Amino acid sequence: MENRNTIRWIVDNDVHKLQLEEAAQCLRRNEVVAFPTETVYGLGGNALSDEAVGKIFAAKGRPADNPLIVHIADTGQMDSLVRSVPEKARKLIDRFWPGPLTIILPSGQAVANNVTAGLSTVAIRFPDHPVARALIEQTGLPIAAPSANRSGMPSPTSAAHVEQDLAGRIAGIVDGGETGIGVESTVVDCSGDEVAILRPGGVTRAEIEAVVGPVIVEKHEDDTANAPKSPGMKYRHYSPDAELRLVDGSQAFVQSLVDKEREKGTRVGVLTTDEHRMTYLADSVISCGSQSDLYTVAHGLYGALRAFDAQNIQVIYGEVFPETGVGEAIMNRLRKSAGGYIQYE
Ligand code: TXA
Ligand code: MG
Repeated sequence: MENRNTIRWIVDNDVHKLQLEEAAQCLRRNEVVAFPTETVYGLGGNALSDEAVGKIFAAKGRPADNPLIVHIADTGQMDSLVRSVPEKARKLIDRFWPGPLTIILPSGQAVANNVTAGLSTVAIRFPDHPVARALIEQTGLPIAAPSANRSGMPSPTSAAHVEQDLAGRIAGIVDGGETGIGVESTVVDCSGDEVAILRPGGVTRAEIEAVVGPVIVEKHEDDTANAPKSPGMKYRHYSPDAELRLVDGSQAFVQSLVDKEREKGTRVGVLTTDEHRMTYLADSVISCGSQSDLYTVAHGLYGALRAFDAQNIQVIYGEVFPETGVGEAIMNRLRKSAGGYIQYE
């Protein structure tokens, strides 16, 4: 699988049908193709085909018990994919689709077995990216798509990231430039009596609660005793090769940790923001965005994590962010990337 030729189709947002025809044909032939969404790049395959879905798992090296999100470009496509759409799910759909919200619903007949990893529910998402929508429409199929990274790596926010992880392992990459939001969609479970946020993401908890009232938020950190509701939550995730160490403290404290580690001969990086970048001295200092707008941090986060690897950094000290709004998703990813551990001053 390593040595096939991965085609790259470069498109822009007012993409023409012809530019996507080859990619759409690959998908119809049950090949797998990466494409941009408004959150991160996805690795797409025909959600009705066990064969195509099997190729997604194989290319990513993804554990078979971690189910995939099925992407649609028209709510009518849901009819054969789900058994029912509860009232609250309907409200969320009306408010947030197309957009960065994935909804878990009781699954219907049509979905390939390996998409749901044997669960009785299925995750559905209607992405808000012109290229993703055009590609899905053109295939006429529901498209299963996890993030287009090697399992465990940070999700890709550019075609170059996808290439780093999957070149030679997939049929092609639709290159639509950098993605906008930069962290994945929010996953909400609407299959039970109460709405639960399984993964914070592009749509914030406050935005969801404004539509359906109070929701449950799955707390899974350090909760190894209980089986996670979203199977993806139990794996090491979003981790560059370098070891990320989160620090909740002053810049002087972070710098003291950097200095101590560098004395041992380690190549040390600092993950910081525009406001603080000039205050650090290390082998690599990278800003992922501005503290005054956490959406810029979400946008730059995964690219920054990957950039440390490109500079052979061994240990990254990372600042923490307030866990409100999109900060909840940012800290969720940073915590996982750091193995759940934060060092306090
Ligand atoms: O923004 C996104 O959601 C991106 C783009 C490509 O759409 N996709 C993405 O997919 O992040 P993935 O596979 O990397 O993450 C999907 C998450 C996993 O944590 C998985 O366990 C969970 O959704 N999930 C999928 N189906 C589920 C189900 N039936 N019940 C509970 N969790 C589910
Ligand atoms: Mg992923």
